[in-house]
Amino acid sequence: MHRVDDPLPMSANRNYQYVRRQTSMGSSTNEQSSSRENALMNLTTTNFSNSYDWKSQIKRPLPDTRYKTEDVTATKGNEFEDYFLKRELLMGIFEKGFEKPSPIQEESIPIALTGSDILARAKNGTGKTAAFCIPVIEKTDPDKNYIQALILVPTRELAFQTSQVCKELSKYLNVEVMVTTGGTSLKDDIMRLYQPVHILVGTPGRVLDLANKGVCKLTGCSMLVMDEADKLLSPESLPSIIQVMSYLPESRQVLLFSATFPVTVKSFKDKYLQKPYIINLMDELTLKGITQYYAFVEERQKVHCLNTLFSKLQINQSIIFCNSVNRVELLAKKITELGYSCFYIHAKMVQSHRNKVFHDFRNGACRNLVCSDVFTRGIDIQAVNVVINFDFPKNSETYLHRVGRSGRFGHLGLAVNLITYEDRVNFYNIERELGTEIKPIPADIDRAIYCQ
Ligand SMILES: Nc1ncnc2c1ncn2[C@@H]1O[C@H](COP(=O)(O)OP(=O)(O)OP(=O)(O)O)[C@@H](O)[C@H]1O
Ligand SMILES: [Mg+2]
Repeated sequence: MHRVDDPLPMSANRNYQYVRRQTSMGSSTNEQSSSRENALMNLTTTNFSNSYDWKSQIKRPLPDTRYKTEDVTATKGNEFEDYFLKRELLMGIFEKGFEKPSPIQEESIPIALTGSDILARAKNGTGKTAAFCIPVIEKTDPDKNYIQALILVPTRELAFQTSQVCKELSKYLNVEVMVTTGGTSLKDDIMRLYQPVHILVGTPGRVLDLANKGVCKLTGCSMLVMDEADKLLSPESLPSIIQVMSYLPESRQVLLFSATFPVTVKSFKDKYLQKPYIINLMDELTLKGITQYYAFVEERQKVHCLNTLFSKLQINQSIIFCNSVNRVELLAKKITELGYSCFYIHAKMVQSHRNKVFHDFRNGACRNLVCSDVFTRGIDIQAVNVVINFDFPKNSETYLHRVGRSGRFGHLGLAVNLITYEDRVNFYNIERELGTEIKPIPADIDRAIYCQ
């Protein structure tokens, strides 16, 4: 991994502040509990005699004044206070800088609170995480000392990120959130499970391991969330999911979320969900804020082409996708030789190294990240305004999720695809399946379309 010869300038734009503000992942339990103790201490020592008082205590981040598209602004006009949530949860929501619910939050929060099963489809970056975390936290009773909700996600980094969101939203409540994934010490997880845990966030393999050992007791777990549900229900992880589900009570509530639901999910839905409420906010598939271009190149011209992109584009932070672990490492080396800073991440790296790269990139320590599909789903880094498919993906789901790493929460972003002769069929199919137009890259790209 190559380090910071090109740290982001403080003046880059306000996105930079965004990256810096995001809480570090994987911080120690001690740090988290002491920050919560402080938060709870402040809460109890403050006089919240009327609604004005508690709202005036909230430490909201600077408002996000960047342009946002209809993907997040076309709401019904609900307020978070309309959902009769606990005041402490509302405080967590407002302190995260959420002013109003996004469209998917408006649709799913009230339904999830009623206990209904949900299958929800909404575009990338439109706030699905909070759409399930808010009702899960609201329905969790901190006085009951057992796991009440299980949130499954397909990758370790996404598990850390999701647990962090849960912890931030429940900052003023006594809710204990634990994250468990492969690549970390099983013994530590077993020890942790002797302490109270109310919400467990994890990857399916590790959760199943702990459940099989009898240390992770899920008999009282009445809520099961599967984020990136179509990925979790793909043939590789479906058997683990079914086994994990066998540990939960029959009456559990199941919430499935993703931006993509291929038909293969239907048989699972029919078998395991009870009268699910279907939410589909994808009248079109791609994000309104992302402009997509392609450059037709020969394989041997790709690095040169990338070099030209680096020199011409105004990259705040970029994610560059390759189709194999080997190519990730080779490309990262090439980029460094060209004199640009870059990190890389893929699933064959040791977890401690993966954690460091994820944490440092998120904090703006480096401008470019080369990665495999381990970073394709769910990863939320607000400062990323450019995604480059150095290798073109093979299917439309992967394409959509990769491109959705920029343009978070309705912001603007740019996707550039390097296309070779061998990619032409996939390119045609993906354009057709997504009903979108990927245009040839112009000589000059107006900064206004991806830098606001
Ligand atoms: N109501 C809100 N107001 C402002 N920002 C929000 C709101 N809800 C979510 N966000 C922010 O939007 C960003 C994207 O949210 P999130 O990661 O939940 O999207 P997603 O729909 O899960 O995307 P993906 O499909 O890529 O996983 C996050 O940075 C989150 O903090
Ligand atoms: Mg998500």
